[in-house]
Amino acid sequence: MWKQPEMPLSDTAHTSSASAHSGVGILTDIGWLATCRAEGKQSDVHPIEHAAVAFSGGRIDWVGKEEDLPVELRERPTYSAGGRMVTPGLVDCHTHLVFGGWRTDEFRRRLAGESYLDIAASGGGIKRTMKQTREASTEELQRHALGNLQQMVRLGITTVECKSGYGLSFEDELKLLRVVRNIQPETPVHLVSTLLAAHVTPPECNSQSYIQMIVHELIPTVSAEGLAAFNDIFVEEGAFSADDARAVLGAGVEHGLRPKLHVDQLHDVGGGRLAAEVGAISADHLEFTSADGRRAMAAAGVVGVCLPFASLYLNQPPMNARAFLEDGVDVAVATDFNPGSAPSFDLPLALMLACTMSRMTPAEALKGATLIAARALDLERDRGSIEPGKRADFAELSADNVDQWLYHFRPNVCERTWIGGQPLV
Ligand code: NIG
Ligand code: FE
Repeated sequence: MWKQPEMPLSDTAHTSSASAHSGVGILTDIGWLATCRAEGKQSDVHPIEHAAVAFSGGRIDWVGKEEDLPVELRERPTYSAGGRMVTPGLVDCHTHLVFGGWRTDEFRRRLAGESYLDIAASGGGIKRTMKQTREASTEELQRHALGNLQQMVRLGITTVECKSGYGLSFEDELKLLRVVRNIQPETPVHLVSTLLAAHVTPPECNSQSYIQMIVHELIPTVSAEGLAAFNDIFVEEGAFSADDARAVLGAGVEHGLRPKLHVDQLHDVGGGRLAAEVGAISADHLEFTSADGRRAMAAAGVVGVCLPFASLYLNQPPMNARAFLEDGVDVAVATDFNPGSAPSFDLPLALMLACTMSRMTPAEALKGATLIAARALDLERDRGSIEPGKRADFAELSADNVDQWLYHFRPNVCERTWIGGQPLV
């Protein structure tokens, strides 16, 4: 299914197929390199002009101005970035990648005035996708997810978080998480799984019996099989309460699953404070979070995840990312890709919208989809910035710098994506 990596653009005498396949080389002629190192503020992407990056064994071993490239590294296969801008591989830290079927008609119904919650109450929404997802075979779900990943990688995306949440039964939630596990060898994109069994209560259960099943059966099984790193819950009218979140997320922590939360999307449910209380690694949506909630998240080091597509498609006020940043919260940006509230996986477009709707600067948005997104997935040691020791994951973009990239927004400008030192189409 996946195309073979490309050979170097400008072969040196030492280029061989073996070296191309072992992730050894140098990316040169980088006009503007956004290293996105952690130090400083979110607006500091620590750019280097006229840069080069050397890597071996799939990891970066040198970064700097091209003129300073050590002599001993100049023997490696060389690839030219053609003066383009280069960023760390983009990290989409919030998607619902595995689902069966679309909900195109709901888009039209919402435009005609029905609300997301009204459509859900009339048999549409998440439960409708649950039905279509249960009916889909594992093979169909895998094919669909892989097809979308193949398009995502062309946008420069190299790491994707994938939530379950459309199975909503013991067997069906496991089926979705196993889809993610099964497709990992078929894609170069690094996948991270999150259990979102507590998305809504399925029609055949009452809420408390469903939660008991999640706590006593599903979480222990997911943990024993190593099927997820995180445990998420949707706290909202028509979904789950803060007390449900304490029960589900607490059980996850006992089994090594770190909490994440969908909160304050349609109402203020006290999501910021709740995220701090349960030790969440991230709290996502946050359109209605109070100042008190923001301060609690800052004090507890919870990453806030801005999801502009969901606000845009549901005609909600956007998350006030500016206020979160000013209160000291790190803000990641993600697509929330799903068939209902956010039917797009175009992360660069989400970054532009995070600027225009949520008042982030382009540099803050970029760091939000690289280093801060990696932090929201506990991958910061390995991914999210361009510095020695990290994975050689990059996006080569036809733009002068981050401001120009997100200002003069064009159809995909990613010319080449690199994963683990492998150049991909
Ligand atoms: O993150 N808010 C809850 N869950 C998804 C929407 C899922 C759907 O509409 O199918 C979200 O927006
Ligand atoms: Fe979501």
